[in-house]
Amino acid sequence: MEKKRIAVIAGDGIGVEIMREALNVLKVVAPDTFVFEYYKAGGEALDAFGVPLPEETLEGCKQSDAVLLGSLGGPKWDGVPSHLRPEKGLLGLRGGLGLFCNLRPALLYPQLAEACPLKNELVEGGLDIMVVRELTGGIYFGERGREGDSAFDTERYSKAEVERIGRKAFEIADNRTKRLCSIDKANILISSQLWREVINALSKEYPEVEVTHMYVDNAAMQLVRNPRQFDTIVTNNIFGDILSDEAAQITGSIGMLPSASLGEGRVGMYEPIHGSAPDIAGKDIANPIAMILSAALMLRHSFGMELEARRIEDAVSSVLDQGYRTADIMSEGMTLVGTKEMGRRIAEAL
Ligand code: IPM
Ligand code: MG
Repeated sequence: MEKKRIAVIAGDGIGVEIMREALNVLKVVAPDTFVFEYYKAGGEALDAFGVPLPEETLEGCKQSDAVLLGSLGGPKWDGVPSHLRPEKGLLGLRGGLGLFCNLRPALLYPQLAEACPLKNELVEGGLDIMVVRELTGGIYFGERGREGDSAFDTERYSKAEVERIGRKAFEIADNRTKRLCSIDKANILISSQLWREVINALSKEYPEVEVTHMYVDNAAMQLVRNPRQFDTIVTNNIFGDILSDEAAQITGSIGMLPSASLGEGRVGMYEPIHGSAPDIAGKDIANPIAMILSAALMLRHSFGMELEARRIEDAVSSVLDQGYRTADIMSEGMTLVGTKEMGRRIAEAL
């Protein structure tokens, strides 16, 4: 069997440490299946090549079968001009690979109920929310600039852009509990009015799926008031960025949540939703679970390896059952472990 080529971008901050653990887990769950090719992006690429996304990195990713990404950015590069910021490397990858659909599953592990900041009765029975975030449009990619004393960014969506992310979301909702909540700001933004029109038109093709609409401010409130009302959420790029951090925190820690970025093309990209956490980088305390679960999403979505994906997810769950916790999810009576030991325990549980 020909080996699958994985483009690996460990990136900045804790990226290197968490990536090492994810690759180890992949080697255990699927030996001899992958070849890993390493590329630079973000701050480390800026230091080495003067740009946050070298041509070689984007080309390498395009030629690969899937991309694994750790995290990009850090205060070291705060002073660089906006078009060279490490985050531009990430946007360049998302745009360059056409990854318009970002899946961010927010799952509360029952073992981590203690780490959830909400009252127990609000999350009893667990939480399982799928945030479907549009990833290559909106204000992240719109026209922007400075004019004299002002600055502007533009939120713009075409019907086609909303349709393709809408379709993905309807299909996902259809495979889950058939409840889809579309989140916008249609009381103010014209782009949101278009968004709502398109979602409503699409809903005729998916009569099984019950669609509701919610304004984003209300949604931010409802997520902490009664998170169990949500199943699948679909929203634009910026609202998805914000709401997925909120959803992550109610599941206990942002260190737990993976993501999958998919497009019409062949190559998907998989990354934790958290950032590079420069304050804890190099200290062997970061939680590698979001990165490891991102590798599981890669097996599932890029390679149809559902069995292996489940095995990783079960291994994570069993290590949590055994009481091992990194600092971000630590609670009384549990055993504190570092990045490496958490990774090793998960690999062992496999
Ligand atoms: C995320 C991150 C990125 C985003 C940053 C690092 C550009 O916050 O993936 O959620 O805003 O999309
Ligand atoms: Mg974010």
